[in-house]
Amino acid sequence: MRTPLVMGNWKLNGTKESVSALIKGIEAAADSAKNVEVVVCPPTIFIEQVANLVADNSIEFGAQDVSTNVSGAFTGETSPVMVKEFGAKYSLVGHSERRQYHNETDAVVAAKFVAIQANALVPVLCIGETLEERETDKTFAVVETQLKAVIDVAGIDALENSVIAYEPVWAIGTGKVASSEQAQDVHAHIRTWLAEQSKVVAAKVQILYGGSVKASSAKELFAQPDIDGGLVGGAALLVEEFVGIIEGAK
Ligand code: PGA
Repeated sequence: MRTPLVMGNWKLNGTKESVSALIKGIEAAADSAKNVEVVVCPPTIFIEQVANLVADNSIEFGAQDVSTNVSGAFTGETSPVMVKEFGAKYSLVGHSERRQYHNETDAVVAAKFVAIQANALVPVLCIGETLEERETDKTFAVVETQLKAVIDVAGIDALENSVIAYEPVWAIGTGKVASSEQAQDVHAHIRTWLAEQSKVVAAKVQILYGGSVKASSAKELFAQPDIDGGLVGGAALLVEEFVGIIEGAK
């Protein structure tokens, strides 16, 4: 069966002090939730600090974004090789904030997905519709297009060693969590659509829900048959909330 995965996306937040406090605050919960994998994605500058803080506990970590390039004249970028060197396991790719504020197209997202896997990291591919797309019944078409862009370049089998995060854009940072039925509906659709291409991939790939997940909503969301955990933004910065979310995935 698929391991429940709870992943915190810290976005552009934190200080050296708060990063230490957060890891120390969640480590006991992460260690005791033996069946749940707990991951944090700090801003890149805190990756070494996080690597040291998680050396003796079960928390894993990932990057929020990486370059398609491994080295060279690309000012301001972070190489997947560098992230890997510090012990990261994952990298997010295609988060809606990257798509929206950094003009990341489906083609860029696909190239990053390939670069992440080529450097032995596991991509967490973020997909999801805007409010307008949902209201005009385009949700399934949007997630299919976003997945297809990656599959066309990387191949369907590449998804076997990846994670998908379904994050409706209208639910991110808005406090408007999708209902467990709304989320399950899309997750089930994604899995069925993948199964038409590979039953192995569909059975194996973890599909996380993201968008205003809180301790109070986690348990019901994670109890849905096709929801394998959560990608958590705001609530991942609060020890009590994130611990509650980990408990909800047990
Ligand atoms: P949120 O963010 O939990 O603050 O809505 C989720 C995300 O963007 O991954």
